[in-house]
Amino acid sequence: MSEFAVELRNVVKTFQTPEGGSVNAVNHVDMQIKHGEFFSMLGSSGCGKTTSLRMVAGFEWPTEGEVYIEGEPQGHKPPFQRPVNTVFQNYALFQHMTVAQNVAFGLEMDKAPADEIKRRVGEALEMVKLGSMGKRSPRQLSGGQQQRIALARALVKRPRVLLLDEPLGALDLKLRKEMQLELKTLQREVGITFVFVTHDQEEALTMSDRIAVMSHGKVLQVGAPVEIYERPNCKFVADFIGDTNFLSGEVRNSENGRISVFVPRLGAEVNGMSQSDFKPGDQVVISIRPEKIRMSEQVTLNQNCFQVKITNSAYIGSDTRLEVEAKGVKLKVWEQNHISTLDPRAYHHGEQQAWVTLFPENALVLPAE
Ligand SMILES: Nc1ncnc2c1ncn2[C@@H]1O[C@H](COP(=O)(O)OP(=O)(O)O)[C@@H](O)[C@H]1O
Ligand SMILES: [Mg+2]
Repeated sequence: MSEFAVELRNVVKTFQTPEGGSVNAVNHVDMQIKHGEFFSMLGSSGCGKTTSLRMVAGFEWPTEGEVYIEGEPQGHKPPFQRPVNTVFQNYALFQHMTVAQNVAFGLEMDKAPADEIKRRVGEALEMVKLGSMGKRSPRQLSGGQQQRIALARALVKRPRVLLLDEPLGALDLKLRKEMQLELKTLQREVGITFVFVTHDQEEALTMSDRIAVMSHGKVLQVGAPVEIYERPNCKFVADFIGDTNFLSGEVRNSENGRISVFVPRLGAEVNGMSQSDFKPGDQVVISIRPEKIRMSEQVTLNQNCFQVKITNSAYIGSDTRLEVEAKGVKLKVWEQNHISTLDPRAYHHGEQQAWVTLFPENALVLPAE
């Protein structure tokens, strides 16, 4: 058996547009998805997520390159000949059929024996906790329940890979969060490879074993949530995932991943770290997350420590969110409120003397573009 459940090798998809031009919806993408993995494609609207998924499903064929499922090149195979199933955002349920009939539909098409259909439909409905709702019409169910039927209908066919295109997009926030956890649990229970598409970074971080961050038809980085957030490989990913501060500068010195960068706007060197090699003179940006900057009333280090003016502070319960300025350079700083007191002056506020420390191990040096 192949090492990968799904593999895209150098896949390109070019569409002709009605205006007479062409667009590379997917532009030389390589992706390797492991067996049993919860894998997400994450990126903003139009970056090529749906097109990539549709090429795995067989609704589209690559212009160049090849899609492999369990090591088999898929060529121009139609969807029903691939060991995959898709759950769409709009559920696509048959309204004139009962819940049980909806779930049974695919098995009936395959001409499975009636007693087997009955048993498997029952199991699939139990799996999504709708065991008692088989006789209802989809109309008599909530949005979350309809989403679960769509899942049961896909899972009942026992696909090797389940493809999900923004399946929670139509649900309200609270239900969406519940379904995220449920889906993740379900995926672990059934052990099927899930390929999940979302534009919501928090959703991708919550659910995925690994994430592919996409932009303009390309994959920029693939990694576990912690890698994507803590070690983004480029400025785009650092900016797209979570919140961050950027400081532009030029490399002065680089040794074993420890980089010193001259930041003209601060008129000072900032020491940071990097996984890539830089040489003196390289143009770079330092990315430092707001929760990793330390505030203090005195100088803490003889490097990477800058006096600042607190220009804005917002107490939001769990955190105090500050905007500070060092020589006109604005930084976002988030401080967790470890203490509990009603004295507003115990939290950082504008009239204080303040310094920020950018610990070198939290200051990630990335190529300027
Ligand atoms: N059938 C099509 N014909 C022409 N252009 C398309 C077609 N499908 C998608 N596109 C274009 O390809 C790009 C990627 O689209 P899509 O894969 O749907 O992105 P996403 O799912 O990430 O929002 C977009 O610019 C979109 O307009
Ligand atoms: Mg899409």
